Amino acid sequence: MPLFYHTPSLSRGMHGNYASAITFASSTKPTTKTNPAIFEQSSKNKCNQSKTNTRTVSSYKRRGNIAPTDLHILNDEKTFGKCVYSHADWSHAYKSTLKESEYVIKAEDVIGRIPNDVKGGVLYRVGPGKFERNHKQYKHMLDGDGLALRFEFELDGKVSFLSKFVRTKEFKEEDEEDKVLYRGTFGTMREGGFLNNFGDIRTKNLANTNILHWNSRVFALYEAGRPVELDSLTLNTRDKNEEFDFDGLVPEGQVLSFGFPREMEQKIGLGGKAFTAHPHVDPTKNVLCAWCWRSFVYPQKAVEITFFEFPKNSFVPEKTIVARLEGCEAAPHDFGVTSKYYVMALNNLTIDPLPYILGIKGAGECLVSQPESPLRFYIIPRNTCNGGSSQPIVIEGPNKAFEIHTPFAHDGVPIDENFTLDDENANDEFLTLYSAGWDDFKEGTFLGEWGRSAAWDFPIASSLTPDFNNIDSTVLWRYVVNISKKTIERSPAPGCNNVCIDHPHVNPLYEGKRECRYVYASLSNFEGVSGPPLGYVKIDLKTGSRNVWFAGNRTFCEELVVVPKENGTNEDDVWLLGMFSSHQDDIPDGQSGLFILDGRDVEAGPIARVNLSERISHGLHGTYVSQQSR
Ligand SMILES: [Fe+2]
Repeated sequence: MPLFYHTPSLSRGMHGNYASAITFASSTKPTTKTNPAIFEQSSKNKCNQSKTNTRTVSSYKRRGNIAPTDLHILNDEKTFGKCVYSHADWSHAYKSTLKESEYVIKAEDVIGRIPNDVKGGVLYRVGPGKFERNHKQYKHMLDGDGLALRFEFELDGKVSFLSKFVRTKEFKEEDEEDKVLYRGTFGTMREGGFLNNFGDIRTKNLANTNILHWNSRVFALYEAGRPVELDSLTLNTRDKNEEFDFDGLVPEGQVLSFGFPREMEQKIGLGGKAFTAHPHVDPTKNVLCAWCWRSFVYPQKAVEITFFEFPKNSFVPEKTIVARLEGCEAAPHDFGVTSKYYVMALNNLTIDPLPYILGIKGAGECLVSQPESPLRFYIIPRNTCNGGSSQPIVIEGPNKAFEIHTPFAHDGVPIDENFTLDDENANDEFLTLYSAGWDDFKEGTFLGEWGRSAAWDFPIASSLTPDFNNIDSTVLWRYVVNISKKTIERSPAPGCNNVCIDHPHVNPLYEGKRECRYVYASLSNFEGVSGPPLGYVKIDLKTGSRNVWFAGNRTFCEELVVVPKENGTNEDDVWLLGMFSSHQDDIPDGQSGLFILDGRDVEAGPIARVNLSERISHGLHGTYVSQQSR
């Protein structure tokens, strides 16, 4: 087995289609965009094919329905980028990580080399890692308890690894009683049935979404709760109350408000605020841009956002701006920061809180999609005076769009060399935002389809792991917004037609800047369909070319954390740190680890691979802290 799979050059022009460039095996038909035909061939002679081991990609009707023993398909490099994988392998993604760990990977066991300027630094990661208590399975993978990870790159080349569950107040109580005592956002209920959940609006702070390092402190973030501070060395929770309220800026309580007096709502646990799981650093001003939110469901539906700008080495905001997003009911997952604006793309969700209050559904299950309503941009001027409130500029976008992750936004028109502006003086009227979002948005309960999976032809590790056949493809979109004329133009970012990606990021030193050219993301496929991340891509927003590396069809790749090189002079002078979990014949249950790639040449594959001694649940987000910043 090769240590790293390498692919031939996949760089293509803006409208290049990698799928069409594949050289097919004689038994395999060429494929086109969203062509489920690669899984649609008749199954009448399926048994024979299995017995003679001659099945091709074309034989599998349902994506992922490939046995992990069908290695002639899974290991075939010609299928890379074609969404070929076994759900048996992928199903380990949301199987509970059974133990916490602390061990050292010796320098001689690191494959390749750790870059010198990464040594001395620490990578933090977090994600849902525990999905049951006392044999009672949670209802949804996003209800998983946060598992924090810490990779310390020692100066002598070894790597110290630590994993620990985020011991929130709720986690500790449940751990002590070994019982589900709190409701989860996505439908996990307290033990004891309906009556034991009726009227109990408390939900668990899962602390499972992102890690923030600021002012020499480390926090686990959850967008429906407040930050939980972790000891930067031990990952133990630090604060006595477990949650950080920024000295009163983020009050305790559920984020729903009925507009009653604060004191009254406080007594019944309502009217609190939650802190975003996706803060952004503005590298020009060197401030942390973040926000907290609450949702007014009565008498008038609106989301109240309080933006903060925290200067370096401080949690006292140098600027606070309040904005009320009328007509919204749920906060966005992410946002963009330009030199002039905060930009939020609000998805079309409504909240029906009654089933939640009655204890019938989780809060997340009460979010209902409205695909026929337009996505709305709320643009909030940053030059609002400190402590003031801002009236957002509201612009309606397309229907059936659902945006998730924003790598960056900037003032002005795109860097795309094919983008032309009739009136060059009009540049100041524009802003541009890039976003990973779904190319379709179905009606129904938000993320409900992630919790359902029909039976497979083989045993799976966890029924909580989503079936990609039920999920829309995630594409990197470009929004060009004319603020004066209140128009929005949405299109796939250059080079991103039919490319399924997620977790896009840029060099953090270039956030908010128009000259920012490269986006780095985990990559699934070039088929325009949803699938697990099996590699990485660097996208050139100026030319539309792509630089690609696939890890193989049995290796699942997580988000890239982008680390500027110490003496870098170019934008792509970055190291890319990405976790993976690999399934092979001798390790069918999988082994996790860390890849380090050079942002100058993603296609060359990792320059270092650090193998862990276990399979860790598939994580969400993380951050890197350099030796100088620790
Ligand atoms: Fe996220």
